[in-house]
Amino acid sequence: MHRNASRRPPRVRRLSLWLGTAALLAAGTGAVAQTAAPAAPALGAKIKVGFMLPYTGTYAALGTAIENGFRMYVQQQGGKLGGRDVEYFKVDDESDPAKAPENATKLIKRDQVDVVVGTVHSGVQMGIVKVAKENNTLLIIPNAGADEATGPLCGPNIFRSSFSNWQPGYAMGHVVAERGMKKVVTLTWKYAAGEQSVKGFKEAFEAKGGKVVKELSVPFPNVEFQALITEVASLKPDAVFVFFAGGGAVKFVKDWQAAGLKDKIPLYGSGFLTDGTLEAQGAAAQGLETTLHYADGLTNPRDKAFRLDYAKQYKLQPDVYAVQGFDAAQLLAAGANAVKGDMTRKPEVIKAMEAAKVDSPRGAFTLSKAHNPVQDFYLRKVDGRENKVSTVAVKALADPARGCRL
Ligand code: BEZ
Repeated sequence: MHRNASRRPPRVRRLSLWLGTAALLAAGTGAVAQTAAPAAPALGAKIKVGFMLPYTGTYAALGTAIENGFRMYVQQQGGKLGGRDVEYFKVDDESDPAKAPENATKLIKRDQVDVVVGTVHSGVQMGIVKVAKENNTLLIIPNAGADEATGPLCGPNIFRSSFSNWQPGYAMGHVVAERGMKKVVTLTWKYAAGEQSVKGFKEAFEAKGGKVVKELSVPFPNVEFQALITEVASLKPDAVFVFFAGGGAVKFVKDWQAAGLKDKIPLYGSGFLTDGTLEAQGAAAQGLETTLHYADGLTNPRDKAFRLDYAKQYKLQPDVYAVQGFDAAQLLAAGANAVKGDMTRKPEVIKAMEAAKVDSPRGAFTLSKAHNPVQDFYLRKVDGRENKVSTVAVKALADPARGCRL
């Protein structure tokens, strides 16, 4: 077999020899191949969507809800966007930033997807943004708030259907200051989502005369909160602002109650603290107030239909993550419909997405110049299994998009 191989090149070797010879000949005649514009896809080609989401770990439920919402919208369009069938590819990103470049490259290079839909974790998002920019691949961020993605790292092919970390934090800073609180301690996971939420909170809170007296954190996804909770109690603040989500949020809210602080120190958070978590948090979450771009009890017809359809299809109540997945698909549809499914016509796809008015269950929204939703932030209060809307905390809040040059 080895001898054969040396006499007769195997198929792969023959092909590369042929390509090499052809290239040399072309170079000799000056007819060097140009970087060709991507060929239009064959009639009937599918739109390839690559989900890069967490399907394991503390954010697993968030990834599943995003995928559910996305698929539901596509199904409602008969399984097609821009007249073409949609084909899905999936990678579990495990909320692990170290694996992000390799995972994103798998979807883009191996699976040749037209669009990456991902992800949840801000640290992982930074890796995806880098790879998507290098390859000029369309990216829709269905959760991760990393401010950079629609800030200094913004790009024509980078879109978000969710929020920037700054936004819900800023909205809550405004609410807490309006309530006359002066001295606040913050407590988060030590990574971009927590740190940037606190930055947003601080910006609004301190502009109105409040003071963040201590910023405490614990590494992600650590859930050993006891020592920090004890430290918070010793500081005797007027209130505490936190960022936790998914499984970690469940544990934190229960630990807070178990430490006897629930009725002693007002606890506020961005809405991830109580979204998709209420069944597991039970009594410990009752009465908690948070700010987010979605809530239970909205009265728009789009939300009513969305909730009915979602409950029917998945036997679950939807949460903010499902909404963001649904809206990621709506954004993609705006682009795909404009080019009748020919996703190689990228500038037209981008233009249509930029101009989209997304009829979201959260309320209709448009995108900022940096491709981040400009949206209302609701103040919500936990009542039973619901994050009931109390009021609009900040209307049409746009991320400042600092450092974005688009
Ligand atoms: C983030 O990492 O950006 C994030 C994760 C879960 C909920 C909200 C934000």
